[in-house]
Amino acid sequence: FRIHVPSDTTAKARGADRIARLIEIVAEEHKVDVEVRRNGTRGLYWLETLVEVDTDAGRYGFGPVKEGDIESLFAAEFYKGNVDHPLAVGLVEEIPYLKRQERFTFSRLGITDPLSLEDYQAKDGFKGLENAIKLSSQEIVDAVKESGLRGRGGAAFPTGIKWQTVLDVESPKNQKYIVCNADEGDSGTFADRLVMECDPFMLIEGMTIAGLAVGATQGYIYCRSEYPLSIENLNSAIQTAYDNNLLGADILGSGKHFDLEVRMGAGAYICGEETSLLESLEGKRGLVRAKPPLPAIVGLFGQPTVVNNVLSLAAVPFILDKGAKAYADVGIGRSRGTLPFQVAGNVKFGGLVELAFGPTLKELMFEFGGGTRSGRPLRAVQVGGPLGAYLHESQWDTPLGYEEFSQKEAVLGHGGVVMFDDTVDMSEQARFSMEFCVAESCGKCTPCRIGSTRGVEVIDRIRAGQNVDANLELLSDLCETMLDGSLCAMGGMTPFPVQSAVKHFPEDFVKNAASAT
Ligand code: NAI
Ligand code: SF4
Repeated sequence: FRIHVPSDTTAKARGADRIARLIEIVAEEHKVDVEVRRNGTRGLYWLETLVEVDTDAGRYGFGPVKEGDIESLFAAEFYKGNVDHPLAVGLVEEIPYLKRQERFTFSRLGITDPLSLEDYQAKDGFKGLENAIKLSSQEIVDAVKESGLRGRGGAAFPTGIKWQTVLDVESPKNQKYIVCNADEGDSGTFADRLVMECDPFMLIEGMTIAGLAVGATQGYIYCRSEYPLSIENLNSAIQTAYDNNLLGADILGSGKHFDLEVRMGAGAYICGEETSLLESLEGKRGLVRAKPPLPAIVGLFGQPTVVNNVLSLAAVPFILDKGAKAYADVGIGRSRGTLPFQVAGNVKFGGLVELAFGPTLKELMFEFGGGTRSGRPLRAVQVGGPLGAYLHESQWDTPLGYEEFSQKEAVLGHGGVVMFDDTVDMSEQARFSMEFCVAESCGKCTPCRIGSTRGVEVIDRIRAGQNVDANLELLSDLCETMLDGSLCAMGGMTPFPVQSAVKHFPEDFVKNAASAT
């Protein structure tokens, strides 16, 4: 009997390693012949640890399994797919949360062993690269343009146009680079981590295709230090790729060359901003560079560089395998393809939800997320990380699309959705945004470096009920200055959560006004 136990960081934190070992031990005691395989995770986090069993009908799931459940699972002969157990969830593929998703990028998630090249290839792995090798650089760039793929790090700049810029520009030293931004720092997000921990060959394939597209022969994955398992799995998969001629001097016998290495960050949020990331990769302190010049023209070590987020690069194998049209065919308006949403915070069913753009935020939070975990009314939701706006109930009908969100003065960003129930104090959340900026500002420009500290002080005065009207006006002025005068998105977007909190939840800012002198 074959049993699958997830192996990503979240499942491990829920005891998956011990559960896997315990299944082997108890199987031996019961004299049952089982093979325990470690898959990634399905991303259905409320069910972790989700143990799956191979049956003729497909994989049956049991979850959330704890160590104390193993004996009763064996007593019920769960390994035969017997569903007579309270933890049985039926056929995993039929779970509505999963079945209703469109898993383009995450089609292998939780199904394959992350480090098995055979598993990856058996599920369409490296087919995109095989196709790309037969195309010219321009044809690859055209395919990405036609797909409509836009930067999934958050800024949504068209990926194909970025690649065209790098393809067209001359490199002074005849060296171009592909840099993967894996410094996933947004609150509540984990999609990049899931790619790296659970399907690392997909990122390797996407980066190699990017290299062929723009004529870059060296790639770097800049991964945050908080993701040790991502780094371990990437390094292991990169070695396997080299051993199998999928990286290096003569990829798949094509005579084309691409080398790839992993570099580790050191815990600074600002190193997720592309220019400070490049500084850090060059061995310097992560300080933001002024743009222009764009990294596409003057990037790593002064050479033309594609800097793309993990999810942008991970979408590329699908596009080159299934075709640009298959990707572009889903979505709304200029938001084409899918976005893997990460539903977190005070949510009943937290996890990864990859959807074509188009459903509303409400559908995501209730039909997938199931509302709040606390069972209390949902009050606010922050979409797009710590620099994203808070959305009020009147905005929850907004369709999930880049333009649709910007019309509501909000951002989709990297797809992080953090939910809050009615116990949240929005003035405290606004203070946190400013405080976060104080801690993470690189210090290069005044509106962000000084403005964020003044912002905390002003919000403290408002929260204490001191001269509330005058201080709210001051806060508004300060936000405008940060928006207009900051060099990068850190200072330039911190006002979004602050202003949206004041605009949509004013009662939380004036509640102490009467009691103070
Ligand atoms: P941006 O709008 O300045 O640039 C977007 C990208 O397009 C950059 O790579 C830029 O170099 C490139 N670009 C712009 N014009 C170009 C041209 N003509 N040719 C070629 N390339 C061009 O945005 P930025 O500052 O890079 O990113 C801000 C976003 O980052 C925010 O919207 C936020 O959502 C997101 N973010 C994501 C985080 C995460 O953990 N994923 C963390 C913090 C922020
Ligand atoms: Fe640095 Fe903040 Fe200025 Fe960005 S806005 S360059 S993080 S000081």
